[in-house]
Amino acid sequence: MTSLVQQFATNFDHVRQINLETIRGFHTTHVLIALIKVGFFAELRQFQKVNLPEFARRQNLDLKILTSLCEYLYSIQILQHEGDTYFLDEKGELIDNLMTGPLLVVHAYENVFHNLEPLLRKQKKFGSDVNRLSEFVAGGSGTVGKSFAFPLMINFLRQGRYECVLDLACGDATFLAALCQEDQNMRAYGLDIAPEAIELGNCVLTRTGLQDRVKLLVDDMFNLDKTTHLFQGVDVVTCIHALHEFLEDGNERVISMLQKYKARFPGVPLVILEVIRPPLEELRERPGGMIDILLFHDLSGQALTSREAWKTLFQQAGFTNVKEDYFPTVRTAIFTLC
Ligand SMILES: C[S@@+](CC[C@H](N)C(=O)[O-])C[C@H]1O[C@@H](n2cnc3c(N)ncnc32)[C@H](O)[C@@H]1O
Repeated sequence: MTSLVQQFATNFDHVRQINLETIRGFHTTHVLIALIKVGFFAELRQFQKVNLPEFARRQNLDLKILTSLCEYLYSIQILQHEGDTYFLDEKGELIDNLMTGPLLVVHAYENVFHNLEPLLRKQKKFGSDVNRLSEFVAGGSGTVGKSFAFPLMINFLRQGRYECVLDLACGDATFLAALCQEDQNMRAYGLDIAPEAIELGNCVLTRTGLQDRVKLLVDDMFNLDKTTHLFQGVDVVTCIHALHEFLEDGNERVISMLQKYKARFPGVPLVILEVIRPPLEELRERPGGMIDILLFHDLSGQALTSREAWKTLFQQAGFTNVKEDYFPTVRTAIFTLC
């Protein structure tokens, strides 16, 4: 009997550990995303506390479900409470500060995971039957970028003393807003194919008072050759976290875009920031957040790739002068093509 209990206790420890890595993560992610989307964390940020009955009434939410979600987050030390009033615990502060962007990106790809079995069975196809949520791709990417990609790029551009930037696939324009806030002399253009992204971007510009210095438009960056009358005075072009979206069927599409770029902006440097795909063995040694990033990219027709593969592609497009700055800790490269 004792040994049976002991064996159960041993297994219980294993199961508990596996539970933490599987079911707990699944539920916590969903609970957090739902609460972010109904404005619960924004309210916490603004007032440091949320009274559940009052918040539920104001937002027309089901109080029983809201309470359940908050009790779940209390049990795992993300929230604290006094009666019906909840506030952030230490872990909650960290999540609010560091994880909102990644959680929004996960939400952007929620349809992919919801349809994983039919995608696996070839009953559905990404891009036609299953799509990502453009608004959250742009908003999530903009929030994620604030932590290091945008400051890195801003630092980089400031060294070049540029005065007018065009950002290809600009998303919600968080990058352009941050750049122009830091550098009072900078003007900017941004283009993105998703109207939802440009709508969010125009809200960001209005909020930051930058609408006169930054102009956004809905357009396809593969039609750069047709935009001859636009983008006056551009002396540098950027493309952040975007080119990998077009490599699924090989390099041809990006090569052709880069060739159009060369003809349209002769002599203007193109600065590309990309997350670099490490070899599989290295991922097993140090998975970090990278394996999750790779997973949703791979499942949605995108192809994060290696530094060497990028450099080959740039060469194929006719760029012989390519400078690479690689940041191994964050597995990110900045390529400058002249
Ligand atoms: C991962 S997001 C990156 C957004 C932004 N650069 C950032 O770092 O936050 C990729 C963006 O590429 C945009 N995009 C996809 N295809 C595009 C195209 N053909 N032309 C312009 N933008 C495109 C998407 O709408 C999305 O906003």
